[in-house]
Amino acid sequence: MEKLYEGKAKILYPTDDPEILLTVFKDDATAFNAQKRGQIQGKGEINCAISAALFRWLESLGIATHYLNTPSPNQMRVKSVKILPLEVVVRNIAAGSLCKQTGLTEGTVLPFPLVEFYLKDDALGDPLLTRDRILVLEVATPEQLEELQSKALQINEYLKDFFNCCNITLVDFKLEFGLDSQGQILLADEISPDTCRLWDQAQTDPQARVLDKDRFRRDLGQVESAYQQVQKRVLEQIAQVSV
Ligand code: TMP
Ligand code: ASP
Repeated sequence: MEKLYEGKAKILYPTDDPEILLTVFKDDATAFNAQKRGQIQGKGEINCAISAALFRWLESLGIATHYLNTPSPNQMRVKSVKILPLEVVVRNIAAGSLCKQTGLTEGTVLPFPLVEFYLKDDALGDPLLTRDRILVLEVATPEQLEELQSKALQINEYLKDFFNCCNITLVDFKLEFGLDSQGQILLADEISPDTCRLWDQAQTDPQARVLDKDRFRRDLGQVESAYQQVQKRVLEQIAQVSV
């Protein structure tokens, strides 16, 4: 089948139905705007399973997502949406680029969840935007921006509690949203150890606790087992909360 689009971690294919697309999750991993490349064995299936479980669960809580079903372990059928060129990052604890850019110490608990918008543009290195820059670039309307902010905060509340029940601290994460044919905002892309920072509450050592893509970014080793650990805990917790 002809690809519609190939990203760093997923490939999008058209289907017989113009309203439905097929996403294939890859084992390929990149970091630092693809300057670092590698593979994480089994990542495609793991990220697909984690994302599917979390999307289904968020839907049950009233968050509209692009998720439809998973025809095979690394494939997800999704509603076709026009992806907004924004990466919406929510942070509960200081880490990553927030520490680099502000001097905050890694691990500092933020006084409130910080919502940030980055422009999805690899050539520009996904720059941090301001509200006015978003409006000047016309990547979202003021109303859409309000809705994105409140959805991101609501999703953070749900996910923070969910991961807490998995003995995992949700440090920060990135979301993408798209518009469906009616202009409704749907949560899209994925929610996985590629797109979240997840710290094991059973570990105090700042390296041993890392259960996410930082293991790959920072060459910490045991990347596959960290992803498997997240999958195991998420699926066990999903079994508890699903009826
Ligand atoms: P950052 O601290 O590097 O800005 O990352 C914040 C969060 O966003 C972190 O959970 C990782 C995630 N993220 C992505 O999903 N894709 C990206 O391209 C980047 C830079 C971060
Ligand atoms: N996914 C991004 C990239 O390859 C960055 C990251 O996740 O660190 O460039």
